Amino acid sequence: MKLKNVLLEKEGNIAVVTINRPKALNALNSETLKDIDAVLDVLENDNDIYAVIIRGAGEKAFVAGADISEMKDLNEKQGQEFGILGNKVFRRIETLNKPVIAAVSGFALGGGCELAMACDIRIASEKAKFGQPEAGLGITPGFGGTQRLARIVGLGKAKEMIYTCDLIRADEALRVGLVNKVVPLENLMEEAKAMAAKIASNAPIAVRMCKDAINRGIQVDIDKAVAIESEDFGKCFATEDQKEGMTAFMEKRAKNFQNK
Ligand code: HXC
Repeated sequence: MKLKNVLLEKEGNIAVVTINRPKALNALNSETLKDIDAVLDVLENDNDIYAVIIRGAGEKAFVAGADISEMKDLNEKQGQEFGILGNKVFRRIETLNKPVIAAVSGFALGGGCELAMACDIRIASEKAKFGQPEAGLGITPGFGGTQRLARIVGLGKAKEMIYTCDLIRADEALRVGLVNKVVPLENLMEEAKAMAAKIASNAPIAVRMCKDAINRGIQVDIDKAVAIESEDFGKCFATEDQKEGMTAFMEKRAKNFQNK
């Protein structure tokens, strides 16, 4: 697999994906989005990976947005196609068959905030800043920001951030629920890996079913949502890991999950 702007490393059952264009503060051009798409093919099919971390290269930025130099001269059709590409790739992250943690060191702006929001969990450094500055560039957020920000922080705060283009600091992002945890910059990857390892220590198929039930259930009414949960809950009983988890509990011994 030939990637230009993204690195994929594996550490045990955890994969670390690095958006690697530090000179442009990891701005997302089409090439980078296609690299992420290719990495998702690998992650989706790798049964030994139980959790994924996405980060930006360097400390200054997670991702400072979609690439403005590439967008500048797009016409309506090309703009729409660019938005569709990003939305497709980010929706794949959101629905990936394993949990994804965003480790946000610095700027997560525009497409960068949108990338972080497509992940299941966000851990930020104290230096991180979040925002949707698109309206100041003459566009709307285009990789899901108008939809996911409102779902995560609520309509009022999302509208404030999107209309004013104000950036918020990590402590404010924590207060409004945009991030799960804020840690010192030097501890960021350690904390992200510790959380990924904790997730990876649970039954991987069960974790996958939890993600599926939460993601699908949130989109429908509560009756359909609990039916989705029952379906995924039931599927767990067809796994060896359910037998292992419950037998180990009864036998008062450590669990040994096999992702089966
Ligand atoms: C292209 C970018 C970029 C971006 C930074 N760079 N952000 N290039 N697209 N989104 C480049 C700069 O041009 C510069 O290149 C280098 O990275 C370093 O950035 P500086 O601006 O010199 O750094 P600094 O002064 O410290 O300011 C940091 C910053 C600023 C506040 C993060 O770079 C900034 O405001 N960036 C744009 C943020 C933004 O508006 N993002 C939203 C984009 S729209 P050179 O070659 O000069 O060194 C979007 C839409 C998504 O994301 C949906 C699309 C469909």
